[in-house]
Parts: sequence; C-alpha cells; structure tokens
Amino acid sequence: MKQVILIFAAAAMTAMAGCLPSERSATSSAGAREVLVVYTGNLLAELKPCGCSKEEDQGGIERRMQYLKDTRGKHRHVLLVDTGDHFKEPTRQGKLKAATLLTATARMKYDAVALGERDLLYGAEFLRERTQIPWVAGNLTVDRFEPARSRVKRFANGLTAGVIAVADADLFYDHVGLRIDDPRQTASRLVARMRAMEKPDVIVLLTHAQRESALGYLNLSGVDVVINGHIDTESDVVDMAPVRQDGKLFVQSSSRGQKMGELTVRIDADGEKSFAHNLVKLDSSVKFDSEMVKLYAQYNEKVEALFFETLAGKRDKSKSSSVYAGDSACQACHPAEHAVWSRSRHGHAYDTLRKINKAFDPECLACHVVGFNLPGGFISELDTPRLKNVQCEVCHGPGRGHASSPRSGFGSNAAAACKQCHVKNHSPRFNYAKYWPRIKH
Ligand code: HEC
Ligand code: HEC
Ligand code: HEC
Ligand code: HEC
Repeated sequence: MKQVILIFAAAAMTAMAGCLPSERSATSSAGAREVLVVYTGNLLAELKPCGCSKEEDQGGIERRMQYLKDTRGKHRHVLLVDTGDHFKEPTRQGKLKAATLLTATARMKYDAVALGERDLLYGAEFLRERTQIPWVAGNLTVDRFEPARSRVKRFANGLTAGVIAVADADLFYDHVGLRIDDPRQTASRLVARMRAMEKPDVIVLLTHAQRESALGYLNLSGVDVVINGHIDTESDVVDMAPVRQDGKLFVQSSSRGQKMGELTVRIDADGEKSFAHNLVKLDSSVKFDSEMVKLYAQYNEKVEALFFETLAGKRDKSKSSSVYAGDSACQACHPAEHAVWSRSRHGHAYDTLRKINKAFDPECLACHVVGFNLPGGFISELDTPRLKNVQCEVCHGPGRGHASSPRSGFGSNAAAACKQCHVKNHSPRFNYAKYWPRIKH
C-alpha cells in the first residue's frame, strides 16, 4: 500500500509539472469513488479578520490552514483550488499583505491558483517570482509571465481531475504587456485537448468573471463544475448558492476567505457523476494553526516597522498647531458629556488595539483614534497622546476654534459621522436608533 501511494505521489508531481503520464492508474476499484474539491477565492489580502464584530470574525490564514489539515486528515483525495483576486490595495502595506498571503498559499499546497484582475496589482514580476504557487490561466499572458494553461491531478483512488482557468477581458484595465485571448474559445480548446490527452474523470473550470457571464460556461461541453470568483470591494455580497444545470454544478467563492467551499464529486462504477455541496464557516470554532500564527506575527512586526519608518515624515508636517483640541479641552466646559463618553467603548477604542498588539496598524487606527492620516490628527501615542480613542471631535468635527470661542450650534451634524466607521464589515448590526442610546450624552 505504501508503495502505491509513493507511485501516485510521483505521478501527481509530474502531472502538476506539466509532463503528464498518459495511462490511467490501475487501482480503480469497482465501487464509487470520490474527490473532494475545496475552493477559495476573493481573498483581498485578508490575512486575519479584524475582530471588530463577532459575526464578521471569520476566515484568516490561521484558521484556513487548520481547516485544511483537518480536512486532509479526513479525506484522502482533496483538490484545492483558488479563483483569484488575492490582493487589495497598491500600498506598501498592501504589498506586504500580498506577499504574506502568497507565502501562506504556498504552504497550504494548493493544486491550482487562478488569476483575476486584482492579481496584477504589483506587476507580473511579483507573480513570476513565486514559483511555488501553481498558477493557472488559460487565456492570460502577462509580460512574459506564462502560467500553466491547465493542471491535472491524479489521486490514489485512480481518479484524475483536470483544472482549467479563464478570465473575462472586461474586468481588466488596459495593462501594459497583457494579452487576453477569448475565454470561451480558450476554455473549449483546453477542454478538448484535456479530454484527448489526460482523459480526466472530472473537469473543473475556474472562471474569473461576473456571475451572469460565468453561468454561461455551464453549457460548455465536457466541463463538470464551474467555480467562479471575482470581487470589486470587500463589502460585496457574494451569492454562494450552488446552481445545478444538466448534471453540472456552478458555485462561487466566498468573500475574503470567510467560508471554505466543499464540493464532493462522486463517480460511481458506471462513470455517473453526482455532487454534494457544503460551505464551512471559518469562525471561532476553528482553531489557529501555529505555523500561520507565526507567519502572521512576522507580518505584524513588519507593519510595526513600517509605522515607525513613516513617523518622521508625519512629524515634520504636524509642526503647526492642530485643528483638534482633544477631549480634555472639551471636558472643561462639558463635564457631563465627557463623563458619559469616557465610560463608553469609544473612550477605550485605542486600548482595544493596544491589548491585541495592533496600536501601530494604520488599517486599525483609521477608526480607533481621532483623525488618523488627516491634517492635525493622530500620529502616534508618543506624538499625539491627546488624540487617542474615538473622541468628541470625531463626531462633532475639529473643535479647537470652538473651544477658544464657544458658540451654540457647533458640531450639530454629529449623527452623520457614525457611518464613517460603523460600516458593514466592522459593525454589521449597526442601527442608529439602537446604538445612539448606548452612547447618549
Ligand atoms: C472602518 C472602521 C474600523 C476599522 C478600519 C477597524 N475597526 Fe475595529 N471596530 C470598529 C467599530 C465600529 C467597532 C464596534 C463594532 C460594534 O460593536 O458594532 C470596532 C470594534 C473592534 C473590536 C471589538 C472590541 C470588543 O470588545 O468587542 C476590536 C477587537 C477591534 N475593533 C479591532 C480592530 C482591529 C485589530 C482593526 C484592524 C485590523 C480594526 N479594528 C479596524 C471600526 C473599525
Ligand atoms: C470654554 C468652554 C467650552 C469648551 C472648551 C468647549 N465648549 Fe462646546 N460649547 C460651549 C458653549 C458655551 C456652548 C453653547 C451652549 C449653548 O449656548 O447652549 C457649546 C456648545 C457645544 C455644542 C453644541 C450644543 C448645542 O446645543 O448647541 C457641542 C456639540 C459642543 N459644544 C462640543 C464641544 C466639543 C466637542 C468641545 C471640545 C473640542 C467643546 N465643545 C469645547 C463651551 C465650550
Ligand atoms: C471614528 C470611528 C467611529 C465613529 C465616527 C463612530 N464610532 Fe462607534 N465605535 C467605534 C469603535 C472603534 C468602537 C469600538 C470601540 C472598542 O470597543 O474598542 C465603537 C463602538 C460603538 C458602540 C459600542 C457598541 C456596543 O456593542 O456596545 C456604540 C453604541 C457606538 N459605537 C455608537 C456610535 C454612534 C451612534 C456613532 C455616531 C453618532 C458612532 N458610534 C460613531 C468607532 C466609531
Ligand atoms: C460617536 C460620536 C460622538 C462622540 C464621540 C461624542 N458625541 Fe457629542 N453628540 C453626538 C451626537 C450624535 C449628539 C446628538 C445630536 C442630536 O441628537 O442631534 C451629540 C450631542 C452632544 C452635545 C449636545 C447635547 C445637547 O443637549 O444638544 C454636546 C454638548 C456634546 N455632544 C458634546 C460632546 C463631547 C464634549 C464629547 C466628548 C467628550 C462628545 N460629545 C462625544 C455624537 C458624539
């Protein structure tokens, strides 16, 4: 038995390298056999959920790796694929996240990783350097980066899965050095070639397209499963309900790796296929994998270094007096309001970050202090200690002028400020009528 597994491991490796043994394995048993297709996509460089709300506390590389280890322990024949859109923003921190995510992806041993338009954010070189990632793109050629056109995996139970990926040209901006061939023609050609050469038992087509357009691939002959991915913003709601049509299945990847898609492909002795679909929420019931915890800690250290590196530039700009007075200035004349505020969670929002070693992460400070990245706003605890937390001036507006010559009517538009921070991904239950009474002053 051991030997058989070794042989298959070797066959799988050559197959993934593009040099494919043509004959079927001999161990096909008479009964039904299964392959578990596990899929992700639309990761948007999300390494770890922020933890702002319980409902949105899903996903992250720490849980994903633990899930994969558990799943591979239970199922021997797993095909792990991703539909693309790994990256988010063209910033230094964004690139740091992207690099960390791809290190995690390599360690998770994906079988095929498709490319979306967001994956070109840092150029072709960034992708080309990451040779451990099994990129696959049927119809894209990017500046001498030529990902595999298709991939094939052979399983120890004798089944073979083929993976093809195509992307819709409409989603791409005009990038230098990018060639996009017709996705539908490319997909048909690759399916035909695969059926003639490797004769896979199941063909999975990864599409990177709008949902309506991707659904059209269900009628492509030879394709068994279409897995679509594409996301514009992190608050996009993805329709995860599977669509069945003519014995085929269409599914979409979740947003930001919050849920793992599981698709059991069952092939009975007559070659009849059936599918079972399942979604697994990566919530707090999934433990953190220790290797990924370390990787995340390394990322966090780099973010901290980046934060201190940018402080000098910010200090130079903040020489003139700030537009913000700080909460203790307001306290002098509005002691009652200040007392209520200081007991509220807004009054402790910076401590929340400090407790979890995040008080240097610009992506968190944005909503947990006063005026981060705005003129005169919070720079660091050392530079601007009076601008920690979600203070009065976040809602009422900069108040230095008001504090020195007070008038009624100041800051009367405060209720409009909530939605700056209480957005869907960080505060899904936000409702002004319910939230205001908790901070009323
Ligand atoms: C867009 C604004 C925004 C950003 C960005 C943001 N937060 Fe929050 N955070 C909030 C809001 C709003 C709440 C309160 C949510 C609620 O209770 O409805 C919150 C709550 C929290 C809490 C929960 C405190 C508790 O005791 O329940 C933690 C922890 C937290 N944030 C950490 C972070 C971290 C870490 C980051 C960066 C990775 C971050 N936040 C980025 C807005 C934000
Ligand atoms: C020197 C005293 C003083 C300071 C300091 C001060 N205020 Fe005021 N504030 C007043 C007075 C006086 C009014 C007008 C009250 C009135 O006429 O009803 C006022 C009005 C307001 C109002 C509007 C209330 C209304 O009914 O019109 C808000 C909001 C407010 N202040 C917020 C702040 C904030 C935030 C700060 C700190 C940045 C601050 N104030 C600092 C004295 C002060
Ligand atoms: C600058 C960003 C920001 C703005 C603007 C903001 N909040 Fe918050 N809010 C937060 C953060 C961050 C937390 C979580 C603080 C913590 O626990 O560390 C929070 C927490 C809360 C909580 C506590 C939630 C709970 O479960 O008890 C309430 C209530 C709340 N906000 C109401 C409001 C209302 C109402 C407004 C508008 C008038 C508003 N917030 C404006 C950032 C903001
Ligand atoms: C999370 C946002 C938020 C924060 C933080 C906040 N306020 Fe307010 N404040 C409001 C809102 C909303 C109102 C009510 C406006 C309304 O009802 O039209 C208000 C009302 C007031 C009023 C007017 C009360 C009245 O009778 O009209 C004063 C004065 C005031 N705030 C001062 C402060 C001071 C001082 C602080 C800081 C210690 C503070 N606020 C912090 C949002 C905030």
